[in-house]
Amino acid sequence: MRIVLVGPPGAGKGTQAAFLAENLSIPHISTGDLFRANIGQQTELGKLAKSYMDKGELVPDEVTIAMAKDRMEQADAVGGFLLDGFPRNVSQAQALDGMLAEGGMKLDAVLDLEVPEDEIVKRIAGRRVCRKDSAHVFHVTYNPPKAEGVCDACGGELYQRDDDTEDTVRKRLEVYHTQTEPIIDYYRAQDLVVTIEALGKVDEVTARAMSALKAGE
Ligand code: AP5
Ligand code: ZN
Repeated sequence: MRIVLVGPPGAGKGTQAAFLAENLSIPHISTGDLFRANIGQQTELGKLAKSYMDKGELVPDEVTIAMAKDRMEQADAVGGFLLDGFPRNVSQAQALDGMLAEGGMKLDAVLDLEVPEDEIVKRIAGRRVCRKDSAHVFHVTYNPPKAEGVCDACGGELYQRDDDTEDTVRKRLEVYHTQTEPIIDYYRAQDLVVTIEALGKVDEVTARAMSALKAGE
């Protein structure tokens, strides 16, 4: 299956993507995680990405699309992917359509996670991420690690993301509304959008997402 996950910052895209990708046996591709891995390795791409991410702005399309394309080409060997954080504006969505069309492929669904803004703020304020792998995500209250500050999955140190400050989150929400939300209409025109309420326990949201995806098949 080829699925795009959309939703505001802190909606739980990364958290859900880990479970959905496992249930569906497809790789989880997160452009945010790819950028953070580059930042950790201090690559040129990482330095460029960080200068935008710290301000809550989108990294330029040219580099983002090239990075996503490269990662998707590796993933296609296993027959699908779950995209998290890409596409993030209409021109990225058009580029993705172009890449898929070249390979004679299509998306199966666009899963839209809905969460009220006050909940987003609480989720982001308490989020802690693993330094070794930013796909390992915790929350100080909602999903605490077994030992404070230590990743359950790999023993890495947990930290608060540089872009999780109040000002940057406000900017990321604004960017989401102005640049990312229009892709929902873009995909609605292709009849691909499945919207679910992403409130409740993590496993309840996963179950809701799985049944919505099955219903749309
Ligand atoms: P990215 O890393 O994609 O960040 P984001 O979209 O802002 O999303 P988040 O990672 O903040 O949240 P999430 O929805 O994954 O939530 P999570 O599962 O962690 O992008 C970061 C930056 O990179 C962008 O600002 C941009 O600069 C750049 N970038 C990335 N992609 C790009 C692109 N395509 N083009 C250009 N630039 C790009 O959950 C949040 C918290 O809530 C966690 O603590 C979690 O434990 C908790 N939680 C999750 N589910 C629940 C639940 N059901 N109940 C209670 N708590 C929960
Ligand atoms: Zn870890």
